[in-house]
Amino acid sequence: MIIAIDGPAASGKGTLAKELARYYRLPHLDTGLLYRAVAKAMVDAGARFDEVDAAVRAAREIDPPSFNEKELKRASLADAASLVSAIPEVRLALVSLQRQFGQKGAVLDGRDVGTVIFPDAEVKIFVTAAPEVRARRRAAELSEAGEPMPYSDVLADILRRDERDTTRAAAPLKAAPDAHLLDTTYLDIDAAFRAAVAIVEAVRAGRKRG
Ligand code: CDP
Repeated sequence: MIIAIDGPAASGKGTLAKELARYYRLPHLDTGLLYRAVAKAMVDAGARFDEVDAAVRAAREIDPPSFNEKELKRASLADAASLVSAIPEVRLALVSLQRQFGQKGAVLDGRDVGTVIFPDAEVKIFVTAAPEVRARRRAAELSEAGEPMPYSDVLADILRRDERDTTRAAAPLKAAPDAHLLDTTYLDIDAAFRAAVAIVEAVRAGRKRG
């Protein structure tokens, strides 16, 4: 079974994807880490984010098993990831890695899992939440990680990335027509998890009947 979880920045899709993967005993891939790793390689090499050849080379060379998640999750790489991820050639270079990961079933979260990477995924969930709520959650996460950032800066970053991610030509952030919408604005982690399991179970039950 492929469970595709997409949604905007800090919507809670990562936490949800991790918990669903544990519950259904499936491997989990946070596809945002791929774009963050490309961005980090560009920073390390002193390249500009619009250098397409360097970005594609970096995308071809990333090695997920060696990822340092804590480092890649740094706030400073979020905007950089959003910039390199708008390059169509970069996205293309990362498609087969994602499809291979999901070959035997997986939970993947990102922006285009249900639209581009696995358009035939059995379950698609599009996770949203009000920007102010997302910014509060991300600000708390950053504080916990020892990288505090003012709420207003976090909100501005989220709004800027949402705008770029939804308006780009290559695989823009949007819900697949057959995605189930899950608004977590008023849900805590546990309630969001239960709502997501209810969606997965409803889809499975429907499939069995059909
Ligand atoms: O959780 P958060 O949104 O802060 O970060 P992320 O999921 O790690 O994604 C960072 C950036 O990578 C996003 O703003 C997107 O521009 C890009 N991304 C993408 O284009 N496609 C994906 N499948 C995942 C991330």
